[in-house]
Amino acid sequence: MFCATRRAREPVRQMVCRRVVTSITICAWWRRCGYGRLHEHRTAMAGPVRILITRQIQAQAIDYIREELPEAELHVHPDEHASPSRREVETWLERGLDALVCVIGDTVDETLLAHDVQRRLRVISTMSVGYNHIDVGACRRRGIVVGHTPDVLTETTADLAVGLLIATARRFREALQAVDKPGGWTSSWSPTWLCGVDVHHKTVGIIGLGRIGVAVARRLHHGFGCRILYHGSREKPEVAAELGPASFRPVLDDLLAESDFVIPLCPLTEKTRNLIHAANLRRMKKTAILINVSRGEVIDQDAVCDALERGWLTAFGTDVTVPEPLPTNHRLLSVPGVTVLPHIGSATGETRLAMARICIENLVAGVKGKSLPHPVPLHS
Ligand code: DGY
Repeated sequence: MFCATRRAREPVRQMVCRRVVTSITICAWWRRCGYGRLHEHRTAMAGPVRILITRQIQAQAIDYIREELPEAELHVHPDEHASPSRREVETWLERGLDALVCVIGDTVDETLLAHDVQRRLRVISTMSVGYNHIDVGACRRRGIVVGHTPDVLTETTADLAVGLLIATARRFREALQAVDKPGGWTSSWSPTWLCGVDVHHKTVGIIGLGRIGVAVARRLHHGFGCRILYHGSREKPEVAAELGPASFRPVLDDLLAESDFVIPLCPLTEKTRNLIHAANLRRMKKTAILINVSRGEVIDQDAVCDALERGWLTAFGTDVTVPEPLPTNHRLLSVPGVTVLPHIGSATGETRLAMARICIENLVAGVKGKSLPHPVPLHS
């Protein structure tokens, strides 16, 4: 066996070479992504680990950090509703920070990271599933790992999406205002007063059949008998089967033209920014209702206001806006048919606690130089 001819050994040699080259390429790419450094520089650094948390979070989460990292110097911004100013965070970074816990709305970009002059920052953990506020590429270039909180908020956000859809279709905002306003509710029942649109058995178009998309579709199909259409980068027969099956529409225009309710459930990226623009709104039925629980930037809000005012769209329900918070004199709030919620998709006690727990697990793992349990996906 060991006396094989050179010719016979050649394919083995080629295979070995190919494997070595592949391993070297993967290692180089892994290092480029910032995963290879595993913070070896930190061991040489003096003093306790320094952590900044930009919001006051649940006491249980703080206790967990203290248990896991008893020596750490922990700085929790003493406000639940506002983060420290950008200048304050820059100063923290300049003085030396090992880990940063942030929330959506805390912009972490290349310019901010440049204030980490000691190259000490090793982990950023956001208490959110979305991470569009973080320049993940810039973090990787600096060897900083980034964690987020997927999965735990899927069902809660789907509940809210369906609630918002019903509230928008059945005109809850006007109904609640009528009840609250003296003289707003004058007759016990009126034949055409506050009539909305049925939800049951309608066609729902979901853009982005990811975790939340599936959870929303499940509720609407199994609970309300809705027919589900979906659009995305690829057909997903494995998840669509239990949804009717849900029908794939490879061309977005087709989904827009056929749907009674359109729900973008895609993350905010350069591709999905302003996905629902004026021309796409014109492709929708005039009777259609648009629901957004993803990110405000996915929709051109001005174009939605125009479409509603011109009767090209029936109603718009959104949990996310640009800007957030939305000023009370914003145009969106004066257009009939609009229901706005203040970004409360994941806001239940149970879910926010689960998010805090995952966020802190990511933080602790990153500080200890271990792989994060929930890193942001590699392709981001
Ligand atoms: C997220 O986690 O990205 C949500 O938008 C906030 O709950």
